Amino acid sequence: KAYKIDITPYLEFIEPEDKYEYVYLVNPANPLSKDYEPEDLTDCGHTRKDGRATQKLRKYAAESLKAFLSEAKQYGFDDITVTSAYRSYSYQDYLFNMYFQQDWATGKYKTKEECEKHTLTYSTKPGTSEHQSGLCLDMHNHPAATDAFGGTAEADWLEENCYRFGFILRYPKDKTDITGIKYEPWHFRFVGRDAATEMHELGLTLEEYVAANSVHP
Ligand code: DAL
Ligand code: ZN
Repeated sequence: KAYKIDITPYLEFIEPEDKYEYVYLVNPANPLSKDYEPEDLTDCGHTRKDGRATQKLRKYAAESLKAFLSEAKQYGFDDITVTSAYRSYSYQDYLFNMYFQQDWATGKYKTKEECEKHTLTYSTKPGTSEHQSGLCLDMHNHPAATDAFGGTAEADWLEENCYRFGFILRYPKDKTDITGIKYEPWHFRFVGRDAATEMHELGLTLEEYVAANSVHP
């Protein structure tokens, strides 16, 4: 599909020279160390303007996102903003505990183990969140990231077009058994255009792609 925007200045970022450089897993089986922080974090350029801190991504992901959202604008989707991108280990620690406490407070769970199992379907323990990689982001045009964003024209366009800018929808609806995470129509992960295109065409998650290509996990 032809790009509506001039893609030329973005290409070097969308398509990294080493097609596997940004293709690796961060999940419970493949954690990052407590002190891992990418050295090339930069302003992602599209932070929601509601007082939150400027969200950062690694350079290649940030530049590719700029192309992605400029193209979205050409299709009339001009109010998609980033609500979360890079997260430190300690911030993820805070978030996971907050979600766990919220779930526990509902009184729906008999044991803390059962409750944690539920929390883990939508949040992750520090070190195991892809957000610490600086390669993924949450973006949408709703007040909060909820299921209601799924199936909107914006969500459909983002999912259908993300590969052209090197991104994948990391937690698809029909792959929750493989990712272990419920459907997140707002969470996109940068992997580079070659890998993203292959995953898009073959309908593979990052877990499946990494296993099939014996890339570093
Ligand atoms: N919401 C995603 C799964 C995370 O916490 O990393
Ligand atoms: Zn996310």
